[in-house]
Amino acid sequence: MAKRAKIKDLLLNPKFGAETNVKGWVRTKRGNKNIAFIAINDGSTIHNIQAVADLEKVDETLIKLVTTGACISVTGEIVESQGKGQSVDLLVSELVVLGEASAEEYPLQPKKHSLEFLREIAHLRPRTNTFGAIFRVRHAMIFAVHKFFNEKGFYNLHTPIITGSDAEGAGEMFRVTTLDSENPPKTEEGKVDFSRDFFGHETNLTVSGQLEGELAALALSDIYTFGPTFRAENSNTSRHLAEFWMIEPEMAFYDLNDNMDLAEEFLKYLAKYAMEHCMEDLDFLNTRLLDEEKNLKQEERSELSLIERLQFVVDNDFEQVSYTEAIDILKNSKPNKRKRFKYLINEWGIDLQSEHERFLVEKHFKKPVVLYNYPKNIKAFYMRQNDDGKTVRAMDILFPGIGEIVGGSQREERYNVLKTRIDEMDIPEESMWWYLETRKFGTAPHSGFGLGFERWMIFVTGMKNIRDVIPFPRTPGSAEF
Ligand code: 4AD
Ligand code: MG
Repeated sequence: MAKRAKIKDLLLNPKFGAETNVKGWVRTKRGNKNIAFIAINDGSTIHNIQAVADLEKVDETLIKLVTTGACISVTGEIVESQGKGQSVDLLVSELVVLGEASAEEYPLQPKKHSLEFLREIAHLRPRTNTFGAIFRVRHAMIFAVHKFFNEKGFYNLHTPIITGSDAEGAGEMFRVTTLDSENPPKTEEGKVDFSRDFFGHETNLTVSGQLEGELAALALSDIYTFGPTFRAENSNTSRHLAEFWMIEPEMAFYDLNDNMDLAEEFLKYLAKYAMEHCMEDLDFLNTRLLDEEKNLKQEERSELSLIERLQFVVDNDFEQVSYTEAIDILKNSKPNKRKRFKYLINEWGIDLQSEHERFLVEKHFKKPVVLYNYPKNIKAFYMRQNDDGKTVRAMDILFPGIGEIVGGSQREERYNVLKTRIDEMDIPEESMWWYLETRKFGTAPHSGFGLGFERWMIFVTGMKNIRDVIPFPRTPGSAEF
């Protein structure tokens, strides 16, 4: 029996005349009484291979079972294709139906399905061209993340998923407990007694691996985490997930400028890697985006195509702008003066909304923007305070169509300043003692940032909804599959 080959390898390097075996899922079948043309895809590439079956040689009842969605195994000779647009055909000598897919019931018929519908059948959507392309690009990006940091001498660190601390101080966490929800043990004051819970105190799913990452950076110098993070914020937007993946490098001896430079270099590397390794899938996604935007008004369409956008990121320096400068620009902007922003900008100190971030990136600077030196009151407790007493060494990177894609900072390495801030913000010290100790024993200036992996995936694939760049999205009200 001929050995199985992946379709990608067959198309790349066809051995004409050789016998081979292909296994995959039927995309379409057409033909007549004498001959059947079967398009097969095995996920190794966006392209299908065409199997050609002479119906005098292949059993007719078998051919009837070859319907869209069925899984088949085909053995035959590789020949040069007669058809236009294809290079290689497989002349069927043996056909086995591994798994039928009833034409009446199989939901993925060869026609256009909406992305909303495909979300409802997330168990089958990887079999579409669009999702096949997205998940292949996703894999390439995961690989590139590890490659980038490995080449720079960073160590990958697994940080815990169950945690007793709230790294971002936002309090939007998912509780982890084994207590009986119907009848939990109570303290004398009538509160739930978490001292009798599995870990002996309250625990949650982590919102970030940063705090533990810092511990390791203060020993290994340069580390990065790449793990799942969980946020119970009830944001039903196209950019928020309750479970998402974050890449968090943490570097000893880096200041805020070093941090911003590393983040920019990292994003450029990922964009370049995608263009060098995923062009077939990107071409497909590029066409898909053009097609999707055909029905939009001119001003709502993206100015650059998907590929042009990636190239733009590689070729252009990001704009570095302080929060204070950004507030001035926004205050004097047309949408602010004409009251077009939902949240008007009138004073220094307010948090920026995604409409403001997108104005800066898409209308004002027309390139990725790195905003730095934010007011301390809108940022997390661990950020290093500037001498002005008002701002911290925070930085956010803003991208077109997305808004914030990276959040990071130089960390407060001075014990007393950090301790005071923790007290001011009422953070329970018993959950933080170990973090504070690193500032007591051999502290060092250090910095880091977090890239939301799915936000990046929105950018590289041109998809508009974050639910379409993760295989099985978790969002408020939805955790199926
Ligand atoms: O800005 P954030 O909250 O920063 C941190 O968690 C820091 N501990 C990072 C660090 O300095 N090590 O989140 C970082 C990034 C955001 O910029 C965004 O890209 C992404 O994580 N993100 C989300 N992505 C999807 N769904 C959500 N609900 C997200 N919340 C944040
Ligand atoms: Mg942030």
